[in-house]
Parts: sequence; structure tokens; C-alpha cells
Amino acid sequence: MPLAPSPSMGYPEPMTDTLTIRRPDDWHLHLRDGAMLEAVLPETARDFARAIVMPNLVPPVVTGADAIAYRARIMAALPDGMDFTPLMTLYLTEETDADDVAMAAQEGAITAVKLYPAGVTTNSASGVRDFDKVRPVLEKMAEIGLPLCVHGEVTAAEVDIFDREAVFIDKVLDPIRRSTPGLRVVMEHITTSNGVNYVAAGGDDIAGTITTHHLIINRNDILVGGIHPHYYCLPVAKRESHRLALRRAATSGDASFFLGTDSAPHLTHLKEHACGCAGIFSATNTLSCLAEVFEQDAALDKLEAFTSLNGPAFYRLPVNEETVKLTRGAPVTYPEVIDTADGPVTVFDPGFPLHWRVEP
Ligand code: NCD
Ligand code: ZN
Ligand code: ZN
Repeated sequence: MPLAPSPSMGYPEPMTDTLTIRRPDDWHLHLRDGAMLEAVLPETARDFARAIVMPNLVPPVVTGADAIAYRARIMAALPDGMDFTPLMTLYLTEETDADDVAMAAQEGAITAVKLYPAGVTTNSASGVRDFDKVRPVLEKMAEIGLPLCVHGEVTAAEVDIFDREAVFIDKVLDPIRRSTPGLRVVMEHITTSNGVNYVAAGGDDIAGTITTHHLIINRNDILVGGIHPHYYCLPVAKRESHRLALRRAATSGDASFFLGTDSAPHLTHLKEHACGCAGIFSATNTLSCLAEVFEQDAALDKLEAFTSLNGPAFYRLPVNEETVKLTRGAPVTYPEVIDTADGPVTVFDPGFPLHWRVEP
């Protein structure tokens, strides 16, 4: 719901201020396909120059040819006058061919490969069960410097859902990195201090993306006072101490951490459901949310590093030359939902007023 100004929340009276930063990129984004793609793409393209586009379509984007075709569908859905570059990824399966990956990378058709442990999240059934089977692909990626983006959770039934990221680091990620020297890894959507510490200590070959929503919500926001399905995503938000660790990492300026919104649209009725889908849609108001977060932590001078500098540095891409201007003033309004031909998608509600407007 669009938030009204709330004098009781203790935020300072609006004062006009401006902030100009290089145009941001989103290093983890779900655009889907068809009617959903049409509806959500402008929400990202309005504020972002580039995005790493996740390949978990049904069926998934598994070959270089699939990535080229998906990229063409994205460009066809981009409204006239909008400038946006999708950076494509391949969905790693046990059948992925190392030579196809290398060729797609060399042609510029892909920027990364995505690893989903099988069954870990939305549309991950074709993911990896036996990590030995993907060893040749990982070795080829290490050789050519192609980053592996990782959904870092184990799926074993006996592991508590709140522990799945920490266990993944110890049992899966660290062994893979030790046995594949030179493999460049992005731990996607980190949600724990374990993830923060592992990335911070891991040297130049590892980075971590952090979502907008994990900087704002903890697990109480999902579960206290009734169940809040629009705050449910994977990895699920953890306890407050973990959220604070993510805030410190994001606002520190440390080059190992950058924005991946994981904006993941699902139709509202499928989230408000007996078995609700995982995913939070935040493309519409992400920059306003982030400016508010960085201001709350007295770190507005670090916002540009997080949104616009650290990501390109890790991916070895140039930074964007264009800028965006944010203006601080009276609380901004934004739509409660984005309409698609199949129904509405609910926009992330940070639970506090947003004062930073992205100038058109
Ligand atoms: C994502 C989606 O909906 O595709 N959902 C989510 O909760 N983050 C998948 C993912 O990024 O794990
Ligand atoms: Zn994921
Ligand atoms: Zn995602």
C-alpha cells in the first residue's frame, strides 16, 4: 500500500536534497517471459542500465541459443525510448556442455552461469543434484574467468530452512571453490552474517549480491501479527542480527558487495495462496528504498559504490557513464501493484515512507 507520511515514526521532517550517482545496474533480476516480461521490464529499465537476467524460466535457459533467443524477446518487449542492456545467464544443469558455455561467453551471449541446487527455489527442478557432474563446466569457467552465480542453499530435508545458507557455504560452496581454483563466484542474495563473512574473507574471486528487501525486513516481518506472504522469498529473511550484518556490508562500500535486487514477480493471488510462491517484486521502488536505507545508516556517500561501481568492477565491465538524480522531499508515492495481462503483481512495501524520488 502506498505509505502516507507518518510523523510518529521519528523520521526527520522532509528537507530537499539531491544526490546524483552513476546509473545503477541490477546484478540479479527475474524478468520472466510473455505478459509478465512486458509488464515488469519497464519497472527496471526506468532506473537501471543493465541487469543480470536470471534463467529460471519454464523451460529454463540452458544453451547459448536459448540465451540469445531470450535476449531478443527482452529487447522486443522494451518500450521505445528506453535504454537497457540485459546481461544473460545460463541455467547450469547436469547436462550442460562446457564447450557451449565457452562459446556463448566468447560471443558475448552470456555474462554468467547460474547454479541452482535442484529443488531449492522457484523453477529449479532442473538444477544440480550431483556436483561432480558439473565439474567440467566449472573448470572451463575457471579457465575463461566466467562468473558462476550461486543460489546458496542446501535442500536436504533435515536442514532447517533458516540454516540452509550457512550449511551450503560449509558443505557445498567452500569445497567447490577449493577444488576449482580460479572459479569466480557470486553468492547471490546473501541473507546471513555467515554469507557476509565468507564473502568478505574470500578474496578477489568471490562477491556477494544483497537484495533491497533483505536490508529492510527480518523474519518477524513475515510471521508476526499474521503471515505476510509478500515478504516471503528464498532465501527466507533471517533474524535481526543477520539483517544488520547485511546492512553493514552493503553500506560499508566494500567492493565485495553489490546490489542484486532479486526482484521476482509472481501474480498476487499466487503469493496469497495456501502454498504461496517465493519471491518479492521490488523493481518499482528499489532505488527509493535503498536511498532511504543508506540515509538511515548515514551512508549516502556509499550508495553509488553499492548500486553502480562494485558490480561492474567484479564483472569486469565498464561503469555506466549516465547518471541518475535522486531528490529528497515529501514522501513519494508508488503503485501498490503493477498490472499484467494475467493479473496484478504486488510491489514491495518497505513499511516506512520513502523520501527519495528518482528524477525522470
Ligand atoms: C526467485 C523466483 O521467483 O524466481 N524467488 C525468490 O524467492 N528469490 C528465485 C530465486 O531467486 O531463488
Ligand atoms: Zn535464488
Ligand atoms: Zn532470484
